[in-house]
Amino acid sequence: MVRIISMGSLLALQLMASVAWAADPVQEQRSELMKGARDAAKTVGGMLKGELDFDAAAAMESFQVWADVAARTGDLFPEGSETGYDTEARETIWTDREGFNQKLSEFTQAVDGAIEASPQSIEELKASAGPVFKTCKGCHEGYRIEDES
Ligand code: HEC
Repeated sequence: MVRIISMGSLLALQLMASVAWAADPVQEQRSELMKGARDAAKTVGGMLKGELDFDAAAAMESFQVWADVAARTGDLFPEGSETGYDTEARETIWTDREGFNQKLSEFTQAVDGAIEASPQSIEELKASAGPVFKTCKGCHEGYRIEDES
């Protein structure tokens, strides 16, 4: 009997944990996603600055992280998530969704282009990643409160 009760409470705990995970606020989900974008940018930027050796596989891995960011960003700014959790999202995302989507599309295209280019040298990396960095900045300028990256 004791065992049955503890099994039951274990299940209840697991359920609560999964509900808590599902309820992870969208503001935090997009913050985590963007931090991933930044880490990938550090890898690529490090190579471009000569702080890291050029590594074609690591560059492609970073591009894949960006592709994931590009695919998921659109769903992470729903109505009702304009404020809270120290979000740096600017209200323009909700007042000018078309413009935001345009910036997202430019980012997606730049990332797709970089993946397609599959750079094999530092010069090729510069040519393919440069446009991506511009589109990060391009979106942050109009749609993010603090522009630090
Ligand atoms: C389509 C728009 C858009 C694009 C493209 C974009 N970002 Fe962002 N980024 C945002 C917005 C909006 C926020 C603020 C999100 C929030 O706080 O809710 C943000 C936040 C961030 C943050 C802060 C995360 C935190 O909470 O500490 C970093 C770092 C970041 N972006 C890096 C990047 C990098 C690097 C790229 C390109 C590889 C990129 N972003 C591309 C819109 C974009």
